[in-house]
Parts: sequence; structure tokens; C-alpha cells
Amino acid sequence: MKNILTLCFTLLLLVGCGNEPKKEKFTYKRTKTEIKPVVNSTRLVLNSNDLMMFDKNLLKGQAGKEINLILNHTGKIAKEFMGHNFVLLKKDVDVDDFAQRAVIAKDNQYIPEGDETIAYTNMLGGGESDSITFTVDEPGSYIYICTFPGHYQIMKGEFIIE
Ligand code: CU
Repeated sequence: MKNILTLCFTLLLLVGCGNEPKKEKFTYKRTKTEIKPVVNSTRLVLNSNDLMMFDKNLLKGQAGKEINLILNHTGKIAKEFMGHNFVLLKKDVDVDDFAQRAVIAKDNQYIPEGDETIAYTNMLGGGESDSITFTVDEPGSYIYICTFPGHYQIMKGEFIIE
């Protein structure tokens, strides 16, 4: 009896196997890693170096259009000695006054308290980068500086919003 049962069971298994739906072929969806085009956004790259210089003193953007700015510090000197940032000032800000107050704002990455900036990056040392995104609504000429002590008179540029 036991043998018959075993036989039945084996048969069942075999039949079962036979009926088993064929495994579907392995399919996969190709998911493209899309590099999204920068739609409705202006991308700007500004470099700074160990010689205390920005590589551009004129930048342009459009009013109301998102601006993505990447600041690179292409040098090697640490930020305690050759720190650089990008600080875009509002229109009526007194640059000298702002920069002088920035010197004593070390604890806040040399950004003085107040409401005088449109956008700014982190203070960078050699080899570092930062990226910021901002929008300026009003066309005109704006000033950007590096607020590290002693830098702004050289590290200064005009940002034109068209
Ligand atoms: Cu600097």
C-alpha cells in the first residue's frame, strides 16, 4: 500500500511538474538614467584659486529665471588662509560697509547679519565646491564679492540680470 501511495505521489509530482507553467523569460525594463537638461535654469560656473582671484568678473542671468551657480575653489590652500565664497548683494548695499562687517562675522562664514544678500555659497577651501540656486526678479546690475577678509577688493564682479 505504501508503495502505491509513493508511486501515486511521485506521479502526481511528475504531472505537477509537467503542468507547471513555464517560467517567463527574464525580462527587464531599461531604465535610462536621464541627465535632465537644465530646463528654465541658467547654469554658471565660477572658479576661484590660490591667487585670490575669481576667473570671471562678469556674470549674466535673466530676471525671474532660476540661476544655478557652482563655485569651485581650484587651489590647494585651506579655507582658514585662502577661503573663498560667492556673495551676491542686493542692489543698494554699500559694498565697502558690508565687506567690513563681514570680516568680523567669521562665525557665520563671513556673512554679516542682515538682509543684504540675494544668495551666497559656503566658504570654501582649496579643492572644494558649492552649488547654489537662486532667482533674481529685478533686472539690473548687481555686485558679487568674496567676503573672506581682505579679498573683496580683488574678488569682486558684476552680475547683470537682463
Ligand atoms: Cu576669497
